[in-house]
Amino acid sequence: MNFELTEEHLMIQKAARDFAQNECLPGVIERDEQQLFPVEQVSQLADLGFMGMMVPEKYGGAGLDTLSYVLAMEEISKVDASVSVCMSVNNSLVCYGLEAFGTEEQKQRYLTPLAQGKKDGKLYIGAFMLSEPEAGSDATSQRTTAIDMGDYYLLNGTKNWITNGSSASVYLVMAQTDATKGAKGINALIVEKDWEGVTVAKKENKMGIRGSDTHTVMFNDVKVPKANRIGDDGFGFTFAMKTLAGGRIGIAAQALGIAAGAYELAKEYAKTRKAFGTEIMNHQAIAFKLADMHTKIEAARLLCYKAAWEKDHHKDYTISSSMAKLYASEVAMWTAIEAVQVHGGYGYVKEYHVERLMRDAKITQIYEGTSEVQRIVISRGILK
Ligand code: CAA
Repeated sequence: MNFELTEEHLMIQKAARDFAQNECLPGVIERDEQQLFPVEQVSQLADLGFMGMMVPEKYGGAGLDTLSYVLAMEEISKVDASVSVCMSVNNSLVCYGLEAFGTEEQKQRYLTPLAQGKKDGKLYIGAFMLSEPEAGSDATSQRTTAIDMGDYYLLNGTKNWITNGSSASVYLVMAQTDATKGAKGINALIVEKDWEGVTVAKKENKMGIRGSDTHTVMFNDVKVPKANRIGDDGFGFTFAMKTLAGGRIGIAAQALGIAAGAYELAKEYAKTRKAFGTEIMNHQAIAFKLADMHTKIEAARLLCYKAAWEKDHHKDYTISSSMAKLYASEVAMWTAIEAVQVHGGYGYVKEYHVERLMRDAKITQIYEGTSEVQRIVISRGILK
């Protein structure tokens, strides 16, 4: 077993770190406050090849492995989780879903520009639409319908909590074609935002990841050609679950980055801030917090790397990705709260960044499957 990163991995890690420090850090507080989508940063990510990192080069991607993606996600999430969630959804829910299960035509038409993150020089990214007002954790209860009309589906319904909801050009939409078949009656459809009947509705005013655009999207008699169905009839729920298994590695890496970012800030602060005549790192109460943070983050990192390794080696990574996401997100939340505590009053104000990391950490325990859903996946996996 070799725990060392390769030269290529170290280069990617450095490129992501430099990008985060030079391009994401300036303005991150304002984007958070004003809920501004980081259009410049996402555009630069596209130019770096980070919007389709694992997609083969022949489809416009960077042809890298999942570990490279985890390394990049960690570094960017240390600084701006609003940028990294946009990157994560495009890479692991949209591009991976199309690459693994799309037809050649779908790959040429949609995957190639999505992996490049641009089309005709303009931003071109995707969104993944499973959640509905009454179907979050209970994802088989889809109310959005896709009625089979012969050569097209007639799509009607409402999706919510959609990351990239207004900035995306392409949506992967899960919808029920035959309610009597439950999970086996769901289809995954590729829908273009510009099509007639698609409405981008309410933008959510969120606690964290406030730069990312999270919207409700409504479909009213949208005609979706049969050629835009992903996989066989009824494959949609399996598609969503398989794609989410990879997505959860991305969110685990995001949580890891938030934790590591909060820890690094707390450590630096503890080295300089003085109380009771010495730097606060010399007080055991603070030193032990830092020791626990470091230990938990390292454990979360190993879980992320293992899930990435399993995916790259074509093993079943369903349990590993859920374990990585469950643990890393719990570590992110705990570490960020403790990082605020290390900073004392300064942790409670915006300039010191840790309060934002604390708000951002919370979503990693909720989206792409709550911590409770991860425990369902893990327990079913180990007990079957
Ligand atoms: N791979 C392949 N097939 C799978 C699967 C997997 N990982 N997981 C389930 N399936 C199959 C099952 O085998 C089953 O098929 P059979 O009937 O033939 O056995 C079928 O799918 C239904 O599965 P379950 O009976 O297990 O379904 P369930 O109703 O008990 O739900 C669940 C299981 C794990 C809770 C699932 O509903 C789930 O993951 N919920 C959370 C959804 C989620 O993560 N939403 C996030 C939205 S996306 C997002 O957040 C993106 C963003 O913008 C950031």
